[in-house]
Amino acid sequence: MKGRICMVTGANAGIGKVTALELARMGATVIMVCRNREKGEAAAAEIMSKTGNRSVHLLVGDVSSQKEVREVAAQFKDRFDSLHVLVNNAGGLVPTRQLSADGIEKTFATNHLGYFLLTNLLLDLLVKSAPSRIVNISSDLHRFAKLDFSNLQSERKYAQFQAYALSKLANVLFTYELARRLDGKRVTVNCVHPGGVNSNFYNNSGRRMRFYSKFFGWTMRSPEKGAETIIYLASSPEVEGISGKYFKDKKAVSSSKLSMDRENARRLWEVSEEMVKLK
Ligand SMILES: NC(=O)c1ccc[n+]([C@@H]2O[C@H](COP(=O)([O-])OP(=O)(O)OC[C@H]3O[C@@H](n4cnc5c(N)ncnc54)[C@H](OP(=O)(O)O)[C@@H]3O)[C@@H](O)[C@H]2O)c1
Repeated sequence: MKGRICMVTGANAGIGKVTALELARMGATVIMVCRNREKGEAAAAEIMSKTGNRSVHLLVGDVSSQKEVREVAAQFKDRFDSLHVLVNNAGGLVPTRQLSADGIEKTFATNHLGYFLLTNLLLDLLVKSAPSRIVNISSDLHRFAKLDFSNLQSERKYAQFQAYALSKLANVLFTYELARRLDGKRVTVNCVHPGGVNSNFYNNSGRRMRFYSKFFGWTMRSPEKGAETIIYLASSPEVEGISGKYFKDKKAVSSSKLSMDRENARRLWEVSEEMVKLK
């Protein structure tokens, strides 16, 4: 990975931190996008000391905020002229209905629109730097999502699992639509289910989930195991040229029926473009 420039969002903890660490260990230049400067600096320092790689950089931004995502993309473009790997990982399960800085339901704003906007803002660079790769972290929970375009922001009733499942379905639909749009451009895009991972994810997801992780955390995977497929998709020659797939344990598997519907993907793309004011 020497000479490759890789961006990982949500890189100060959990799966994202392991991904950033391993890419740095392989010699890549790593740009960590974190919402908290102190946590980001501490993680970057730890990664540099563990890998001996000094090309680890921090950009601070909350991906639920469109203004901050635009600032992160602009700062990146000021400092770097290529991008070979983008790992969209920052996300979580939001216990109660909250609004982002843009007035959008926070699960959807972070987990889907954060990926969508950042990727679109960096797409010119990814195309220019081809061969390049995009890896979107989804979840098998996408299989439980209901897709109602008139209620993408859980306005009628908020249920944290439903909101989360919908955002993770959006990750898969986005991946498939983007793969179609990037056909022939030598930029691949795939998504991943990392498995149930014992990270901060459950601690940040409300009392019920904290309780669950306290007692059942030991049954889950380590962040190192959870990051394996992400690192594989970001770096392995075995997946060169493979695009538009849903991966689990380094194998492409089927995603839900809803996620494979092209009309859903096209419609979500258009709605998302309007929500992030890309049109
Ligand atoms: N853990 C699981 O079982 C599991 C299963 C399937 C999928 N996933 C997916 O895997 C990804 C990573 O989760 P994880 O398990 O590694 O969780 P984690 O340990 O909670 O790490 C999440 C990372 O994302 C960052 N983040 C969250 N919201 C953000 C925002 N608005 N802007 C910028 N950064 C933000 C967090 O920053 P802070 O440290 O500042 O909070 C942290 O660095 C998520 O997309 C999640 O949906 C997880």
